[in-house]
Amino acid sequence: MDLSRLFREHIAKMTTNAAKTLAETGFDALVLGAGSQMVYYADDMEPPFRSNPHFASFCPLKGPHHAIVVKPGAKPRLIRWAPKDYWYERAPFAADFWTGEFEIDEADTASGVFKKIGALSRAAFVGDDEAGAAAAGFATNPEPLLRRLDWDRAIKTAYEIECLSRATVLGASGHTAAREAFLAGKSELAIHHAFVEGAGCTEDALPYPTIVCLDAKAAILHYHAKRATGSGKLLLLDAGAPDHGYGCDITRTWAAPSCDPKFKALIGAVDKLQRELCAMVQPGHSYVDIHLAAHRMIGEALIDHGILKCSLDAAIEKRYTSVFFPHGVGHHLGIQVHDIGGRQKSREGGVLPPPEGHPYLRNTRIMEAGQVFTIEPGIYFVEMLLEPFRANPGAGDFNWPLIDQLAPMGGIRVEDNVVVTEKGHRNLTREHLPS
Ligand code: GLY
Ligand code: MN
Ligand code: MN
Repeated sequence: MDLSRLFREHIAKMTTNAAKTLAETGFDALVLGAGSQMVYYADDMEPPFRSNPHFASFCPLKGPHHAIVVKPGAKPRLIRWAPKDYWYERAPFAADFWTGEFEIDEADTASGVFKKIGALSRAAFVGDDEAGAAAAGFATNPEPLLRRLDWDRAIKTAYEIECLSRATVLGASGHTAAREAFLAGKSELAIHHAFVEGAGCTEDALPYPTIVCLDAKAAILHYHAKRATGSGKLLLLDAGAPDHGYGCDITRTWAAPSCDPKFKALIGAVDKLQRELCAMVQPGHSYVDIHLAAHRMIGEALIDHGILKCSLDAAIEKRYTSVFFPHGVGHHLGIQVHDIGGRQKSREGGVLPPPEGHPYLRNTRIMEAGQVFTIEPGIYFVEMLLEPFRANPGAGDFNWPLIDQLAPMGGIRVEDNVVVTEKGHRNLTREHLPS
């Protein structure tokens, strides 16, 4: 795939969107700051730097303090921060597939970057250096402009989808290596290392910290400890890889031969219903319907596998499915793992809240061609959520001996990244990680 052509088309679309946003919000120029490097309190150590996502959506250049100036009708300007510094590697700037789309200038300090931007009338600045921007006379982070940028970012260009696909190739390679490590009896820490090596990047570059769960830890949705000893009968691995600032977000749940056959059958059921949910993706329909369908399918699976002993309607009405599936079925994906704008009502702003009883659903929008989101149903045995039902009048609807038999295996999640197309969808994940 020719990234130069895709990036040229991407920048054309981004500048067209920006021109529309500027016209609607009363500005003549948009300045995007890459952001400042955070330093830990009372320390001289820094967390890994992450660019302002609005900057990153225009340009894959890494590092702080750079700025982009977008003015309708002109080639975008990039002012690159290039400090004089012998402590860190400051590689010489080299032409790349994206560099031809900018007029490029340099400054060796953050304030020098503002000087190079120069005087601009009616300019809006988006970024964290509000003091620097205000001193330059720019309006800082105006809400009506931010909402429009957020809204537009939900529709990905072909370049962005290609970056997500390339990230998926690396993520799939990491998942395959991690699965082999699991089946060889390795620890969570060793499985994590296998993933990172398979993905071919440093840990700092991952889009989010890996979630590597053996057995009961799979019931902890964002489990981040990594035990250095022991092996498991079940692996839940939620891990993604990067490409040019974009990241994939993939979960697979694998069983070792020694895993309880009833739990293995439940993994098969979640995988099957996850594929059925992906098949529901098409433009013009609400993503909320996929979330509600997930609850019905999970309710059916819980009944079919003997975990619940009530009717499907009762399982939904009494919110039993939320005990086993306590998160949303997915979220927008792109530069951010939980990409912005998933609950936005319109281009102008406003909130489209999730349905009552589903507070963790991060995407409530109508599906449109170009959106990319995850589909990630799960079934978990979380004692904190089960416990209130053990002694209440509904306790008879639950098969407690079976629940206690399965709980040591923790839980199951299957997560793919899906693009909405004109006629349906494209599953980026299954193209490279079919099972
Ligand atoms: N990896 C975090 C999530 O799936 O939302
Ligand atoms: Mn996710
Ligand atoms: Mn995930």
